[in-house]
Amino acid sequence: MADTRLDGTQPSGMKNRGSGWLVRLAGSTRVHRMMARVPGIKYLVRAEGRALFDILAGFVHSQALLAIVELDVLNLLQDGPMSAENLAPKCKLTVDRMQLLLQSAASLGLLKRRRDGRFALSVRGAAFLTVPGLEAMVRHHPVLYRDLADPVAFLRGETSPELAQFWPYVFGAGGATDTAVTALYSGLMADSQGLVAEDTLQLVDLSGVKRLLDVGGGTGAFLMAVAQKYPSLNIGLFDLPVVVEGAGVHMARAGVTNPLTIHSGSFRDDPLPTGSDAISLIRVLYDHADATVTKLLQAVFIALPPGGLLIVSEPMSGGAAPDRATDSYFAFYTAAMQTGRTRSGAEIAGLMADAGFADIAVIKGFRSFVTSVVTARRPK
Ligand SMILES: C[S@@+](CC[C@H](N)C(=O)[O-])C[C@H]1O[C@@H](n2cnc3c(N)ncnc32)[C@H](O)[C@@H]1O
Repeated sequence: MADTRLDGTQPSGMKNRGSGWLVRLAGSTRVHRMMARVPGIKYLVRAEGRALFDILAGFVHSQALLAIVELDVLNLLQDGPMSAENLAPKCKLTVDRMQLLLQSAASLGLLKRRRDGRFALSVRGAAFLTVPGLEAMVRHHPVLYRDLADPVAFLRGETSPELAQFWPYVFGAGGATDTAVTALYSGLMADSQGLVAEDTLQLVDLSGVKRLLDVGGGTGAFLMAVAQKYPSLNIGLFDLPVVVEGAGVHMARAGVTNPLTIHSGSFRDDPLPTGSDAISLIRVLYDHADATVTKLLQAVFIALPPGGLLIVSEPMSGGAAPDRATDSYFAFYTAAMQTGRTRSGAEIAGLMADAGFADIAVIKGFRSFVTSVVTARRPK
């Protein structure tokens, strides 16, 4: 394996012993008070306090963000700064409550409060509007929020998370037959695919590949990005029938001229089409339990020729170096989907090795919240 930063193994005992005294000191109220008065150290103590408070307040931050999105505040400010008085009637809030929300948005860095008391978009707020899929993701958060309302019951498996119904295909091909429902989730996936494709294609070089099959490729968003970078590559899309319906027309309208084959089927029940020297699984494994992933990787192994390339790209757990974006967001998210799991690169590598793959490389992404990659080859 090329990179072990996503490794699931424990860090060395030396490191644990080294930091133990610090943890014990920080846990002593007396020492804590003393340190808070020492110049130099007091800033560290305060920063730690702020970080703790941020964790505590996180759910209020995300609810404020939801209100900002639902009331369209960022879009309303695109044409220039406005005061709470101007915005309140547009958002159907009292001026007091509008001011509360705007102050909060400014504290979160999404807006800037100007000297004249009006609020303007900040760089972060403007960036929020330009990231495809981010708004849609925030809008569907109430489902996850309800699922986590009793986190202990959730962790004990005593609840029936709603998110599982939001992503019906996870329970098998039969789950995804409603066109309106699949259109909603396929749209959300396609919107958020831009950054995933961008990072994946920077991490993996496809120049030696002749034919790429994207399994669980949705409506073809990843393949459209591939086609832009590799205009003569043969591309294939495999997904459930109701999902791939119309994908060919959609891709042609978007200007894809690469030779394209669309395959409809379920990787749970049907063999994967052969004839491709590379197969990609983009944000597919983390939806599924180990048993499904094991069967899917075996099917990919069978479909690839000797030397064929497997590419897995999705947000991955930090493993031995827990990562906030993936271990505190995607791990809960995929658990709420019931069959899902956010695996570390090392865990995915292990499942690939079990399926017979070799030359396994774990490639940590530039932005863990977007994606990381694991590649492997079927031995020659
Ligand atoms: C999380 S989405 C990812 C879509 C796309 N790869 C992306 O990153 O935007 C998972 C995809 O796997 C597909 N999928 C789920 N179960 C499947 C099955 N049994 N057979 C084929 N595709 C399936 C879904 O329809 C969906 O398009």
